[in-house]
Amino acid sequence: MKKTYLLFVALMAFSYTAIAQTVAATAKMNQFIDQLMQKMTLDEKIGQLNLLTPGGGIPTGSVVSTDVETKIKKGQVGGLFGVIGADKVLQAQRLAVEKSRLHIPLIFGSDVIHGHKTTFPIPLGLACSWDTTLIKQTARAAAEEATADGLSWAFSPMVDICRDPRWGRIAEGAGEDAFLGSAIAGAMVRGYQQNNLRQDNTVMACVKHFALYGAAEGGRDYNTVDMSRIRMYNEYLPPYKAAIDAGVGSVMSSFNVIDDIPATGNRWLLTDLLRKQWQFNGFVVSDYTSVNEMEAHGLGNLQQVSALALKAGLDMDMVGEGFLTTLKKSLQQGKVILNDINTACRRILEAKYKLGLFENPYRNVSSERAAVILSPDHLALSRKAAAKACVLLKNNHNVLPLQRKGTIALVGPLADSRRNMLGTWSVAGDWHKAITLKEGMEKLAADQVKIIYAKGANISDDTLFNHKVNVFGPEIEMGTASSDAMIQEAVAAAQKADVVVAALGEAADMSGESSSRADIGLPESQQKLLKALVQTGKPVVIVLFNGRPLTLVKESQMATAILDAWFGGTEAGNGIADVLFGVENPSGKLTASFPYSVGQIPVYYNHLNTGRPYVLGGPTKFKSDYLDIPNAPLFPFGYGLSYTRFLYSPITLSDTILKNGTTIHAMVKVTNSGNYDGEELVQLYLRDEVASISRPVKMLKGFQKIVLKKGETKTVDFPIQVDALKFYNSRLEPVAEPGKYEVMIGTNSDVVQTASFTFNNR
Ligand code: BGC
Repeated sequence: MKKTYLLFVALMAFSYTAIAQTVAATAKMNQFIDQLMQKMTLDEKIGQLNLLTPGGGIPTGSVVSTDVETKIKKGQVGGLFGVIGADKVLQAQRLAVEKSRLHIPLIFGSDVIHGHKTTFPIPLGLACSWDTTLIKQTARAAAEEATADGLSWAFSPMVDICRDPRWGRIAEGAGEDAFLGSAIAGAMVRGYQQNNLRQDNTVMACVKHFALYGAAEGGRDYNTVDMSRIRMYNEYLPPYKAAIDAGVGSVMSSFNVIDDIPATGNRWLLTDLLRKQWQFNGFVVSDYTSVNEMEAHGLGNLQQVSALALKAGLDMDMVGEGFLTTLKKSLQQGKVILNDINTACRRILEAKYKLGLFENPYRNVSSERAAVILSPDHLALSRKAAAKACVLLKNNHNVLPLQRKGTIALVGPLADSRRNMLGTWSVAGDWHKAITLKEGMEKLAADQVKIIYAKGANISDDTLFNHKVNVFGPEIEMGTASSDAMIQEAVAAAQKADVVVAALGEAADMSGESSSRADIGLPESQQKLLKALVQTGKPVVIVLFNGRPLTLVKESQMATAILDAWFGGTEAGNGIADVLFGVENPSGKLTASFPYSVGQIPVYYNHLNTGRPYVLGGPTKFKSDYLDIPNAPLFPFGYGLSYTRFLYSPITLSDTILKNGTTIHAMVKVTNSGNYDGEELVQLYLRDEVASISRPVKMLKGFQKIVLKKGETKTVDFPIQVDALKFYNSRLEPVAEPGKYEVMIGTNSDVVQTASFTFNNR
C-alpha cells in the first residue's frame, strides 16, 4: 500500500515536472515569436505563408515557381520543396538567413513518401506487411536520410482510405481499412518525428491529403467527393485523426471538394473539425496550387479564393502564390483581417521554432551524416521490407518456393526493368541503384540454377497509353522486336525450363498521381504472353508488380502461382528473390480487396448489409447480387498465403458479457501444420449485430503477427474492451451500444472462426 502510494506520488511529481517544462518551453517560444513578429512587416508575414518549388522535384501542377532567389531575399518565401541535397539546401538557406532582412530560416520539405534515397516498397505494399514496427523503422530510416540531405519536413504519411483501385494514388496509402490505416499513420508519424523535432535526424511529418481524397468519384484523380458525415467519421477520418494524436506537426489539405467546398477553403474541415474538435495545433499547407484551383471549382477569382482559404484555416499556400499576391489587397479591402494573417504566420514560425531552425538554420546541412544515405543498414531494411510486402495469392502444387536446381525461365517485361522497381513517388530515389528481379535471383541462386531470361512482351503495346505513362522517362520500353518474336523467344525459354517465372504487371507510373485507370487488368500484350507460356504446359509463377489491386480472374486461373510483389524499392529484386527461393516465407496480407471485375467497384470487406443479402448458394432472384459476376472480390481484404499451413482452433472467450471497464479475452490456438517455419497475421473482426444505425458486416479491430516454427502451436489472445465497440451514431457522438456482438478471428476477412458476447452497459 505504502509502496503504491509512493509510486503514485513519484508519478504525479514526474508528470507535474513534465507539464511545467512544457508550459515553460511554450512560453519561451511564444515570447520569441512575439518579439519576431513585432519586427515583421505585413509583407514579411505574408511571405512566410508562401511555399515555393524552384524545380528539382516532381512538378505536379501547371505552375513552377520563378524568381525564387529574389523572393527569398525579399522575405517573400516561408519554405521550399523540391530542393534536394545538403549543398543546394545550404545555398538556399544562406539566401534567407544572410540576405533577407530578418534572417528567418526557410523550412525545406519534400515528398519523402516511401523512403528517401533508400527506397522502400510503395506504401500500399508496405502496408501488406501489417508490421507497424517495420513501417516505423522505414519512416525512421527515411527521416535519417532526408535530414542528412538538408530536409526538415516530409509530405507524408498519406493516409487516404481508398476503396477504388481505379484511383492510381491508392498506391500511396495503406488501403481500404481505417483501423489498420490508423495504426500505420501513427507508426509513421512516430518514426519521422520521434516525439522530438529538435533531434538532428527527425523531420516534421505532414499528414495528407486532408481529407477524403481517396473517395474521388469514378476513381478519377482530383474528382468530386460526396460523402455522408457518418461515413466520414466512422470510415474515412480515423487515420488523419490518428496522425494528429501521434503529434503530427503539419497537415496538407486535399484537392477534392467536401460538401461541395474545396478542402483547401473548407472552414468546417480546417477549423471546426481539425482545430476545434481535434485540437490540432500545427500548421496546414495547401496541396500543389490547390488554392488557385478553387477558381476552376467555381469559387471566385484568385483574390477571393485566397481569402477564403486563409479564413478557412489554411496557413501556407503551396506554389500558387495566391496568398503572396492578393492577401495585402484583401486586408485593405476588409476581406481578411490582420489576425487571420498573424495566426497563419505564427503557426509557420512555430513549426520552424519547434524544428530548432532559429537556433541552427543549417541543422541538416552538415556533410557528417551523409554516410546514412543508402547505408548497408538501410539497404538491408529495404530488402527485408521488400520481402515482407510480398503477398502470395496462389500457390498450387507448392510450386513455390522454387527449388534451387534445374532450369528457370525468367520472362516478362518487369523481370529486368530497373527503372520500374522503385514505384511511384520516389522523388529522391535513384532507380539506377535498384536491384532487378533478374539480378536478385541470379545473385541468390545462379550457382545452383540455370536462369534463362527473355523479355517476352512490352508492358503495353498501346503507344498513346505508353506516351502518357512515360512522362518521367521510358518506364514502358518499346524494343525493336515484334511482339510475336518476343513471345516466341519466351516460349522457347519456357520449353527448356522446369518452371517459368513471369514478371508481369504495371510500370511504376501506371499508378500514382494522375494515373487513374478504367481497366485495371494486365495489358493485352502481357495477357498474350501469359497465355503462350501456359500453353507450354510448364508451371507458371507470376511475380506481379503493381501499384493497385488488379483484376486477375483469367490470370489466376491460368497461373500455377502468383506472388504479388508491388514495387519493392531499392532492394526489390533481392527481397523478392528471398521469397521466391524460400529464404523468407511470405507473410503479407492484402490491405485492399482485389475486385473480380471493375463493375464491382467499390468492393470492400466492411460494407453494410443490404435488406436482401445474397447468401452464397441460395436463391438469387430479388437478392442483392449480380447476374454475371459474384459479389465477393477475387481476393479479399486480409488475404495472403504462406508456404506453410496454419490451422485455427475455435474461439474461446473469457466471458460472454462485457461491461464498462471489463475486458473479454478472445483467444484462438494457431498451429503451423505445414512444412516450413512461418509468420501468420491473425486478424480480429467484430460485428455489432443490432445498433441504432446499420453497422458493417465486420470491422477489423485487432491484428497480431506471430512467428510459428513448423509444428508449433501458439495461443493468440485479443483483449476486447468497450472502446473497440465505439462508433459515431447519427448525432456524431462516439457511442458503444449495448447488445450482441459477433467476434471473428481468422486468417483473412473471409475465413474466420466465430463466437459472440453481449455488451451490457448497466
Ligand atoms: C500531391 C502531393 C504532394 C505535392 C508536392 C501534389 O500534387 O498531391 O501529395 O505532396 O504535389 O509535391
